[in-house]
Amino acid sequence: MAFPEAWLNELMSRNEIASVISEYTHLAPKGGRLWGLCPFHPEKQASFTVSPDKQLFHCFSCKAGGSVVQFIMQAESLSYPEAIRFLAQRAGMDMPEEIDDEKLRREKALRDRLYKANRDAAKFFHSTLLAPEGLKARQYLLSRGIDGSTAVRFGLGYAPNDWDALFNHMTSLGYTRDELVAAGLCIRGRQDESKTFDFFHGRLMIPIIDARGQVLAFGGRIIEGEDAAKYMNTGDTLIYNKRHNVYAINMMKGKKLDELIMVEGYMDVISLHQFGVDNAVASLGTALTSQQVRLMSRFAKRAIYAYDGDAAGQNAMLRGVDILSEGGMEPRVIVIPGGDDPDEFIRKYGRDAFLKLKDSSITAVQFKLEHMARSEDLDSPDGRQRFAQNACRLLASLEPVERERYVPLVSERSGLSKEIIREQLGTAKPIEKDTHEIRLTPGAYRRPGEFRQRTKTETLLLAGMMVSRNDLAAIEQLTGFSYELFTEPALAAFAKRLKEAYSRSNGRTVDIRLLISEIDDAGADMVAEAAAKAEDILAPVETAQDCIRAIRREDCKQEIAAVNESIAAEHDPAKRSALMQRQMELIRMLRSLK
Ligand code: UTP
Ligand code: MN
Repeated sequence: MAFPEAWLNELMSRNEIASVISEYTHLAPKGGRLWGLCPFHPEKQASFTVSPDKQLFHCFSCKAGGSVVQFIMQAESLSYPEAIRFLAQRAGMDMPEEIDDEKLRREKALRDRLYKANRDAAKFFHSTLLAPEGLKARQYLLSRGIDGSTAVRFGLGYAPNDWDALFNHMTSLGYTRDELVAAGLCIRGRQDESKTFDFFHGRLMIPIIDARGQVLAFGGRIIEGEDAAKYMNTGDTLIYNKRHNVYAINMMKGKKLDELIMVEGYMDVISLHQFGVDNAVASLGTALTSQQVRLMSRFAKRAIYAYDGDAAGQNAMLRGVDILSEGGMEPRVIVIPGGDDPDEFIRKYGRDAFLKLKDSSITAVQFKLEHMARSEDLDSPDGRQRFAQNACRLLASLEPVERERYVPLVSERSGLSKEIIREQLGTAKPIEKDTHEIRLTPGAYRRPGEFRQRTKTETLLLAGMMVSRNDLAAIEQLTGFSYELFTEPALAAFAKRLKEAYSRSNGRTVDIRLLISEIDDAGADMVAEAAAKAEDILAPVETAQDCIRAIRREDCKQEIAAVNESIAAEHDPAKRSALMQRQMELIRMLRSLK
């Protein structure tokens, strides 16, 4: 969505960022910036800053950031155009005629169609559940103890056991085949492209709804037979990415919550809610993402993991607790006895037993220690020693007061005295925290370790380019500089936009905050971080030079590793020697970059 520049400018100046944000958190000046408690994650010490000069905000701990527009998007859970409308209203301005940007308009229109299609599909599934055809599904719900009002509350439905029942219904409502395929509701025939089939059939349908109440996707559970996957889920579409969403987050809106309970399955959520535990949500897969944590942290400051006790569930929690704390949420873990999942447990023992379990939830550290204890044979002296060593390495990475809390536990499990444990702690090498954050470019996973450093370097490079027009020009002239150095899509796109803005401006200054306020998708936070860094850079060109070297060194190293692998696998002598030549070149290049 694009708005006229002059109008947007007016909007921004009438919504001075500090005055807008002051309505959400108290700000106090310190060192040229304003500081306050971050509204997007719980914290006791201010790490949220507003820069009145640049009209940007940035949180140093949860990394939220952007212009006043992104602030409103996050604070009010609004889309970009909705946030613009919100600010226009606040400033008493009329909305302008929207700029006729054909491509943007078409995309927006398609997204709106997909939202609508999903809503209509949910209605269809729901009415089928209540119709005679839905008898089997209703019996299934009954057999699982799910009552009618819960089914209505969650908008549950039934996809008829038919090839194209939904397709026919939806086309009668005017949806095209392309729209239905794009929404993930239908698929094209594999053998015969001209045929269209429903994606879900004969399944209990569970709509996935976002915080704004829009139906994005579905999970479908098989209700009879064993010959198909237990669940099928809508794949990623223009409006749905499972890594960015949390099941049942829509039901948290408007509740005042101390904590969220995170479970693995749809059925766990539904069952807990039915028993009155109405703060349960599910991440939509096993590995928790930082985007999901950011979403959840808008509703509560603590997250209690209640995953299944099997190995997969345990491993997911071991990783997840760190992702939660990195995202500013306090993680805790419920250990469910007897191998039940939360749904089975609450149905067997009731709500009070579950709440008791919740009250006995343990900290992330205790959970990790218990896991270490389970992984060793504590009946053997070797096992006890290894446990004590590992445990001490974990504790060594904590603050002393927190560490002391766990000494009795380690002592008890290892059979060693508390004094010995404390002594060991004095020399233990702390376990290095791995970086868990994996930011996703569409369709591509990256290895976390190398990745985070690379993003940091790219952010700093962009920061250098933001300092001034002259600095940008000088950086472009540096050896090895190219816009291709940016692998982070949001940073790459912004770098190019910045350059364009400068070349269009005929020497006038370029308003960076305006450019940032125009980012209407993910990644504004990274750009805002660059803008915040730009304020502190003293020698932009030299800084950029260092960044370019670091990036090229990294690229070189990666190519060397790849070439090494190819050499090992290559049997053809001529190809092998060519590879070795390339290897020498790369090594020389790497040396020259030192
Ligand atoms: P579970 O197998 O624990 O499912 O998978 P559940 O929710 O307890 O289901 P019931 O009680 O057997 O009906 C946990 C979650 O993993 C995803 C689903 O989101 C599920 O809720 N899953 C599982 C799939 O996406 N596909 C599958 O085939 C299985
Ligand atoms: Mn289950």
